[in-house]
Amino acid sequence: MAMAAIPFIHIPSLTSKKTQQKASAEESFEFSFLTDIHLKPEMNAPLGFQMAIDKVNQLKPDFVLTGGDLVYDVMRGDYARSELLFDLYRKMSAGFQMPVYNCIGNHDLFAIYAESPEGSDHPDYKYGMWERYFGKTYYSFDHKGWHFIVLNSLDVTEDQRYRAIFQQDQLNWLAADLKNTDPSTPIVVTTHIPILSSHWQLKGQGGKVGVENSDEALRMLEGHNLKLILQGHIHWKEYGMVNDRFDFLTGGSIAGNGWKGRRHNTKEGFVQIKVQGEEFSWSYIDHGWEDERLKIQQSTTP
Ligand SMILES: [Fe+2]
Repeated sequence: MAMAAIPFIHIPSLTSKKTQQKASAEESFEFSFLTDIHLKPEMNAPLGFQMAIDKVNQLKPDFVLTGGDLVYDVMRGDYARSELLFDLYRKMSAGFQMPVYNCIGNHDLFAIYAESPEGSDHPDYKYGMWERYFGKTYYSFDHKGWHFIVLNSLDVTEDQRYRAIFQQDQLNWLAADLKNTDPSTPIVVTTHIPILSSHWQLKGQGGKVGVENSDEALRMLEGHNLKLILQGHIHWKEYGMVNDRFDFLTGGSIAGNGWKGRRHNTKEGFVQIKVQGEEFSWSYIDHGWEDERLKIQQSTTP
């Protein structure tokens, strides 16, 4: 398709779409899911991200989906630093030779922490800077008979921390979006904060990590052909299936542990998904950053 040669960041604007066509069994395509990029000028992060971009371009997926935490970070930052980070991400992600669909993460919420010198009266506060750069924080799009829903899993508490929740206006939008979606259409949902995960059982963090009202969104998706939930946030690689109904996949991370090494022993990488008709398969792609990182560390250790 001619569009694949033109790099751009998708700016979502529509709130719902018309009825989708049923996925044809012969239709096949690939897409890449990159999450927790945590881009910043330091720690050789631009080199690591460029390696991921180059690897994606070699694989030639139809499009890229991100899972949030595009930069590190604008929650605490001042305006100039936050602009620099989003600008760096926008410029670098223009290097993808296919459309890029972005998801918002907690580190992408501008000035929400008390540590930030900017206040809640700033026009870019919370979602503002994101919206200026990337458009709506939740939206959907269609691709070759599949319906992709990108959610905003974040709000802010009164004591200036982030909160993992799907807000009511978004749930209303989701209900309308699903109403316009044929029940047979295969659906992929992307959310930064996981709504299903083994992380908290294994790490003992109680229910702290998940979206508070994930059940409300999942209940809306009953009766629809939900295939896959893509998740980020915990820099954790996991895959699961629920009752022969749908799968969930948490996609590791590009940044690892703040660009210093693996997080949870998960190698830095991204997920490549191959769709064939109504089925999909996936693999975790090592874009070579760990080898490069170790080389850099060795050469700088006295
Ligand atoms: Fe993250």
